[in-house]
Amino acid sequence: MIPIRRLGYAVFESPDVLRMAEYYQNVIGFEAVERSSKRAVMATKSGQIALVFENGPSTHCPRLSLEADPDFDLEDAGRVLRSHGLSVELCSDIAPGVREAAVFTDPKGTEIEILSRVEPVATRANGGGISPVKFGHIAFTASTAKSITDFYCNALGFRVSDWIESVFAFLRCGPDHHTCNFIDGPDGVMHHMAFELKDWAHVLTASDLLAANRKPIIWGPGRHEVGHNIFIYHRDPDDHIVELFTEIDLMKDESLGYFDPRPWHRDRPQRPKVWGREEAAPQWGLPPSAEFRRGGEQHLARQGHNG
Ligand SMILES: [Fe+2]
Repeated sequence: MIPIRRLGYAVFESPDVLRMAEYYQNVIGFEAVERSSKRAVMATKSGQIALVFENGPSTHCPRLSLEADPDFDLEDAGRVLRSHGLSVELCSDIAPGVREAAVFTDPKGTEIEILSRVEPVATRANGGGISPVKFGHIAFTASTAKSITDFYCNALGFRVSDWIESVFAFLRCGPDHHTCNFIDGPDGVMHHMAFELKDWAHVLTASDLLAANRKPIIWGPGRHEVGHNIFIYHRDPDDHIVELFTEIDLMKDESLGYFDPRPWHRDRPQRPKVWGREEAAPQWGLPPSAEFRRGGEQHLARQGHNG
């Protein structure tokens, strides 16, 4: 097993890399540590790469990076993944602060870069924008959420936090309730990505900044029942759904087996479980707008919820 500890960055194709770099710098508040019409690398103000945009005809997400335990030797990734019938390539200097990566294609068709001992990049740590504290989670559809969940748990050390019925999985690789979601649907389609804000006041600031930039909130504010994060969603210039969230459940101690208690938990203690789709609806806030549901009617209608 490869002991994954945290989410790295997501790589997207974009027909207009400079437009995306400008949006993620000026509105979201990341910093372009590398920028050209061919490729832009966006880091949080604390120097962690969150997004990479590469010029291409589509807007899909072909690659995702995951950071392994620093004691894990990337040379061992091949042995682990070969036992799952997958081949691995070792690559070097693929992004700033990343000396080496073990790269393979996961069963839903996303290239995964396993990173180790990532160095933060230098940023000016000033400037405007929303400035999320980190890249928190990313959701993909897969032909069966169950089989890709099994792979992430068995090969990459993820743990299941919750299921909504058998079609929507929430997986953690550290204390956060989820860093990856898998939803029944077509293989390898990015459903939404989520960036963490500091607190409720930061959600308010973010809402004002989105309004000032004529970016409507398409769902929220509300509090999810599954994961209990407060959320707002909007669409970026390439039409990706972006969630900004705070107060997500934390599994601070795996050996206890429950999420750190919060007053909004209905189960006491709140343990990983399988939710029915009705009980999985947000605790408060209005249902998702038509603009949120656009393009995803089919699987969202089946799920009745979006993590
Ligand atoms: Fe989410």
